[in-house]
Amino acid sequence: MTADPVPSVLALGPVLPVVVLGGTRPAEAVPLVRALVAGGLRAVEITLRTEGAVEAVRRVAAEVPRAVVGAGTVLTPEQAVAARDAGARFLVSPGWTDRLLAAARDTGVPLLPGVSTASEVMALLERGVAEMKFFPARAAGGPAYLRALASPLPGARFCPTGGIGPDSAADYLALPNVSCVGGSWMLPPDAVRARNWDRVEHLAREAARLGAAAVAETAADTGGGEGRTGSGTGGGAGGGDVSADGPCR
Ligand code: 3PG
Repeated sequence: MTADPVPSVLALGPVLPVVVLGGTRPAEAVPLVRALVAGGLRAVEITLRTEGAVEAVRRVAAEVPRAVVGAGTVLTPEQAVAARDAGARFLVSPGWTDRLLAAARDTGVPLLPGVSTASEVMALLERGVAEMKFFPARAAGGPAYLRALASPLPGARFCPTGGIGPDSAADYLALPNVSCVGGSWMLPPDAVRARNWDRVEHLAREAARLGAAAVAETAADTGGGEGRTGSGTGGGAGGGDVSADGPCR
């Protein structure tokens, strides 16, 4: 049975692990994602940057039912279709084109398109897209830049990705226009190469805790955390319970 696409990518949880398989074989994505899920990170983006990545999405979708698997680095309509057919429940791209937006819409799977300038944000808002990836977050200006977009562009919500780690994730999550952060810091290449899934699980657990703490702190600061969820139609994928210990924010 194929799981439904998610209603909102930004509502999947405060931390979205980004998997770049590198030399990892598609079958190894299964224990890798199991370790992330065991650590409390159920929503996982597998980037289509390496041979076998679509097959990895297929295996994870079939063999790790607790995971909510999406495909990242989706650059072409063909990749959007292949990812959907493999079982991806959301799509992520470092940028966007009208052709890609239309193709993603046709697949029925939500696309989180990437932006790094105010004009790109405005163009997406004009097209009815309010959830965006901010990429490459650190190189493009980091939390200060994203904070500066909040007032003039209040309709846009972001998942910053690129160069984020445990030292900076909370700074992004504290911003009013940020719902989640993406990154690969819980998947150190040496641990993945060594198939050290215990270490991945440990780092995933720390990342999930960090995300939950940042959300709780922001909610306390804003008197309830209203307005921090994604802009989609529902809570977490599959009706909630997607993030570390319960429903996504
Ligand atoms: C992405 O594709 O979103 C980024 O490459 C992930 O960035 P990071 O590896 O710097 O966390």
